Amino acid sequence: MSSTFTIAAAILLFFALLVSPSSSSACNKQDEKALLAFKNSFLYTSLKWSPSTDCCTWDFVGCDNTTGRVTSLYFENNNIHPESIFLNGSIPSATGDLSSLETLRFRGITSLNGPIPPQLSKLKKLQSLEIYVTQVSGPVPSFLSELTSLKELKLGYNKLSGTIPPSLGSLAHLADIGLFGNQLTGTIPASLFGGLNPKSSLVSLVLSHNKLTGSIPRSLADVRVSSLYLQNNNLDGDASFLFGRSKFLTQVSLANNNLAFDLDKVEFPLGLLFIDISHNKIYGSIPAQIVELPNLSYIDVSSNRLCGKIPSGGKFVQLPAENYEHNKCLCGTPLPPCK
Ligand SMILES: *[C@@H]1O[C@H](CO)[C@@H](O)[C@H](O)[C@H]1NC(C)=O
Ligand SMILES: *[C@@H]1O[C@H](CO)[C@@H](O)[C@H](O)[C@H]1NC(C)=O
Ligand SMILES: *[C@@H]1O[C@H](CO)[C@@H](O)[C@H](O)[C@H]1NC(C)=O
Repeated sequence: MSSTFTIAAAILLFFALLVSPSSSSACNKQDEKALLAFKNSFLYTSLKWSPSTDCCTWDFVGCDNTTGRVTSLYFENNNIHPESIFLNGSIPSATGDLSSLETLRFRGITSLNGPIPPQLSKLKKLQSLEIYVTQVSGPVPSFLSELTSLKELKLGYNKLSGTIPPSLGSLAHLADIGLFGNQLTGTIPASLFGGLNPKSSLVSLVLSHNKLTGSIPRSLADVRVSSLYLQNNNLDGDASFLFGRSKFLTQVSLANNNLAFDLDKVEFPLGLLFIDISHNKIYGSIPAQIVELPNLSYIDVSSNRLCGKIPSGGKFVQLPAENYEHNKCLCGTPLPPCK
């Protein structure tokens, strides 16, 4: 009798322990399994993740504490801790099993290499994918267009090569694309931001320091681009359609390309803060309208084929001569007077 009671009590205690929530943030078991597979896939790693503790308390892991689901993985080596995180190997395929992941960031993890794995396409809740300053190589995969919740894709300063997949333009929420500092070739797809919903979203596109060719797609005039950095590529043709008094452009660099258009015909957006169009083949003169821009704090038009008097007065800030030098016949302060 008493032994039956003891066994029953033991069974009850067992189940009580099994279901007793040590806290509401107890990590989801499938997510814990995926995180351990993530850790174990590296040849060498500084991760101290151990199954003896709740995975929601592990370094670099973020959970939704009401569900215990892992929602973010955020690894960052910065100037203060330059080499504290090692993930020697490639992005683990097990990352794709963290099905509630919304944020995935690797910043300054120079031990990370290899291609972006296709399993990432399973992350239907992923809103932010950032791989910044790593050794990750291979293409910008077209399967990223299967990440239907994606809002920002930042893959700057890696070893990515190949072309920009046109399919990225089908993503309804992707308004922030940064693929700068890679070895990307080919043209900028006209489809980019084509599926954006709502159309009123402000768009940021940063493709600087690659090997992109061809002209800037005119379709960019159909979306509300606020930041556009395309410097240090081999782009040619017209870019005047990006401008216009009521456009949303605040920061733009088109420097170090082969762009050729008439600047006379351009009206600058009223909210413009920063513009660098240096080292191109731009002709005409600097529009007088530039003195009306209340917030413009930087302009560089050097090394083009511009002529005429540099506008002065109004709100126009005085910048050094080097921001205007090496043109065909620009003149007036801060360059020598016009003849
Ligand atoms: C979730 O729980 C973890 C571990 O208890 C805690 O560190 C974290 O701050 C919590 N997050 C939120 C958003 O409450
Ligand atoms: C891990 O990567 C770092 C940085 O690339 C490197 O210095 C270290 O030697 C690597 N460790 C192993 C065991 O491969
Ligand atoms: C200039 O900047 C101010 C302060 O950020 C802002 O309120 C204002 O709308 C800007 N002007 C234009 C024309 O965008």
